[in-house]
Amino acid sequence: MSNDTIDVAAIRRDFPILAQTQDDKRLVFLDSAASSQHPQQVLDAMNDVYLNSYANVHRGVYQLAERATSAYENARKSVARFIGAPSANEVIFTKNATEAINLVAQAWGRANLGPGDAVVLTLMEHHANIVPWQMMAAEIGFEIRWIEVTDDGQLDLSNLDQLLDGAKVLAFTAMSNVLGTVNPVERLTAAAKAAGAITVVDACQSVPHFPTNVVEMGADFVAFSGHKMLGPSGIGVLWGRMEMLDAMPPFLGGGGMIVNVTRDGFSADAVPGKFEAGTPPIVEAVGLGAAVEYLENIGMEAVRKHEVELTAYTMRTLTERLGDDLILLGPSEPAARGGVFSLAFADVHAHDVSQVLDEHAVCIRPGHHCAKPLMKRFDMNATARASVYIYNDTDDIDALADALVAARDFFAL
Ligand SMILES: Cc1ncc(COP(=O)(O)O)c(C=O)c1O
Repeated sequence: MSNDTIDVAAIRRDFPILAQTQDDKRLVFLDSAASSQHPQQVLDAMNDVYLNSYANVHRGVYQLAERATSAYENARKSVARFIGAPSANEVIFTKNATEAINLVAQAWGRANLGPGDAVVLTLMEHHANIVPWQMMAAEIGFEIRWIEVTDDGQLDLSNLDQLLDGAKVLAFTAMSNVLGTVNPVERLTAAAKAAGAITVVDACQSVPHFPTNVVEMGADFVAFSGHKMLGPSGIGVLWGRMEMLDAMPPFLGGGGMIVNVTRDGFSADAVPGKFEAGTPPIVEAVGLGAAVEYLENIGMEAVRKHEVELTAYTMRTLTERLGDDLILLGPSEPAARGGVFSLAFADVHAHDVSQVLDEHAVCIRPGHHCAKPLMKRFDMNATARASVYIYNDTDDIDALADALVAARDFFAL
């Protein structure tokens, strides 16, 4: 573990993609909330499996297959350590966070939810934590209740107890991918527990950026994606309390998740195998394991500190440079948010803003960010979202501000 300051220049040298230029301009990558970039260490770890240790896992008895299986299972151990999971067997590898949440909604939901039950969501959820519940609600007939969002982009918890009364599930994001709001996870899980509801935490935007301990979070399930935390796409994680995972039926059926199959039926493997049907994302898991080790070497306390400082700098700089011309959604206090900045100019579409920024080699993401109910709450169709990570520094924010000033001038606001 390092001390609590990070050396951005040294980190950037680990990311070959960031060395490129676009139209002779330094590439400024500010879209890590959508998907982050990869250090050489992750690329090397994945390449090494392909070059030296690739075979299917949990099947072959030859040495190559055993090496591949060890690499895959070591990645599970690394992820478990990173999130403070009591057992590596509680870490289920999925395709992404979306699949992890669908797994819970479908497997746990079908076994435990019935007509007349209630599931509580928040209005700041990504569609990945809305649609799976809506699909099950359509099938089963339970009610979905919503925690509202305040003007300052915080959860309105004034009627939490009422919403949780009689509810079976509280599913919420640890950090909003649109507003940057960091939610009070422990308070929410404690309230749900007191009301007899299980909790599903969408930790897509928190695990890459904060020290994480799933036990301290007090959740029953935690979902996140590898590709937002320096790992490859194609792998996500569902962590669940063993007691819950043990009691749940499988999600997908096929090879790898059974102990026995006869003409009459099958018996499911123990957790985690029960939830990993088919050939898993072997090399992707190894890449995620390497990403976790890379982040551990930096230290997650240092990552968070860097992002709080950069968030404060971003908010200050954008306010100074653009003043009232720019709308910035989310909490006004930097410590209450992560490094995600949803920006808008009144009367200019986010896609147009992003296109001007692209001419300055500044990569941000326009759109609804898969959070349409939240966008409707703020009466918007789209924002231009900039998001930071360990390889971003104040120069990147200055470049963002310069490009936004150019966009404002271009559209003659
Ligand atoms: C908060 C949040 N939840 C869920 C997801 C879905 O992640 P994935 O597309 O990797 O399944 C995202 C991705 O943008 C996200 O930001």
